Amino acid sequence: MSLLIRGGTVVNADETQRADVYCVDGKIAAVGENIEIPSGSEVIDAGGALVIPGGIDPHTHMELPFMGTVTSDDFFSGPSAGLAGGTTMIIDFVIPDPEVRPMEAWKVWRENAKKAPSDYSFHVAITNWNEQVEEDMGILTRDHGVNSFKHFMAYKGAIMLYDEKLLRSFARCQELGALCTVHAENGDLVWMLQREMLNQGITGPEGHVQSRPPEVEGEAANRAIRIAQVLNAPIYIVHVSCKDALEPIMRARRAGQRVYGECLVQHLVVDDSVHYLKDAQSARAHVMSPPFRSKEHHAALWEGIQAGFLQTTASDHCCFCADQKAMGAEDFTKIPNGTGAIEDRMSVFWDQGVETGKLTANEFVALTSSQAAQIFNIYPRKGAVRVGSDADIVVWDPDASRTISVQTHHQNIDYNIYEGMKVKGCAAKTISQGKVVWNGKDLMVNKGAGRFINRPTFPPVFGAVERSRSLKIPRSVDRS
Ligand code: URP
Ligand code: ZN
Ligand code: ZN
Repeated sequence: MSLLIRGGTVVNADETQRADVYCVDGKIAAVGENIEIPSGSEVIDAGGALVIPGGIDPHTHMELPFMGTVTSDDFFSGPSAGLAGGTTMIIDFVIPDPEVRPMEAWKVWRENAKKAPSDYSFHVAITNWNEQVEEDMGILTRDHGVNSFKHFMAYKGAIMLYDEKLLRSFARCQELGALCTVHAENGDLVWMLQREMLNQGITGPEGHVQSRPPEVEGEAANRAIRIAQVLNAPIYIVHVSCKDALEPIMRARRAGQRVYGECLVQHLVVDDSVHYLKDAQSARAHVMSPPFRSKEHHAALWEGIQAGFLQTTASDHCCFCADQKAMGAEDFTKIPNGTGAIEDRMSVFWDQGVETGKLTANEFVALTSSQAAQIFNIYPRKGAVRVGSDADIVVWDPDASRTISVQTHHQNIDYNIYEGMKVKGCAAKTISQGKVVWNGKDLMVNKGAGRFINRPTFPPVFGAVERSRSLKIPRSVDRS
């Protein structure tokens, strides 16, 4: 199967060139001008638009059991919506119940993901610590293409990990050549502030934002980064939403520590007023963690992105419909946390980043695909339009505009957090494994076409192995 994309400008993170792109059997076979192609090849005209690597969303939650319900987008519907927005690969999360072995949860997620229409990979959350967890981390990295483990410092009483277990897992990641990823919020502080709100009679969605102030996130980000520093473990902070969490990342990176930061596009655009909306259903629809922040924090995050302190953009796509959100109608702590955002991530980021002059098109590519591919060790198979890379490509029309709406989106959720927003910059065509799956109007996706993408572990950083050995961290948790 072969496809020629003619008449576009190829934009990679590192260069821009006027070139055609020829794909054969799901791979990019040639990039250049006047490419000779056999008769019978499909030809599409990019019409002068940009030809960019397919977006990689490194943070999604498809059909996740969470807070007493299950996210409404599954591994078919969610990634399909992503394809309509130009995202051709997701990295989702296996999140084991703390009593379940990671390898058992792994099997469930692998089975669920068999229906995916586009490529995917998994981070695995460490929600408990014991010898089986330690063993399974080794099996997952050695035999199953996992190179990143997630740690929740919040969601007390559910999946939160206290420091002792967290640092053992960090040390194990370091030993295995895997990346520690962290949801940074101080779960004890959140829990205490939630109780305080409820005692004061604050039961509505405004209690959510008031119990998760920026300091709570900043404290946890700083703690995780300092623990990682002592253990010499590379660390990636997910959904950095505020200045308070950005600052420790900036400080650590300036000091040479291997720290990465991810930003959600919705945290750059939507402000904290949504938590106070008069319509309680709309306010509940915006409940996610960390919550939306004031414009002052948006400005700080943009600076962090422009200066290179934050390297990736994600959606944290975690959809719950109104009836699910209503589980917390009487008590905000019971509102399932999460918003839907996979479909509009690229358009909103282009509109707010490139259209406003904050970013170049090359930086846009770096922040929507290439740097995620590099950090999670799948570059240049993914994240580049170059010979040998997977033919996951987007024909990106920088001049097209559309108005985002629940009426037209493909996400399986009855709300859109960007409702009514007019954006410039759209996926005119999305190509997955060398096949057009979105033509700007219709999705042409196949259940199960997606493949699991192995992500190999990282080679030891010079000095890191010796240093971690010298720490002699006891492996088993002291249960006394
Ligand atoms: O509110 C959110 N972000 N829900 C998904 C789980 C998480 O914390 O990433
Ligand atoms: Zn999180
Ligand atoms: Zn998440």
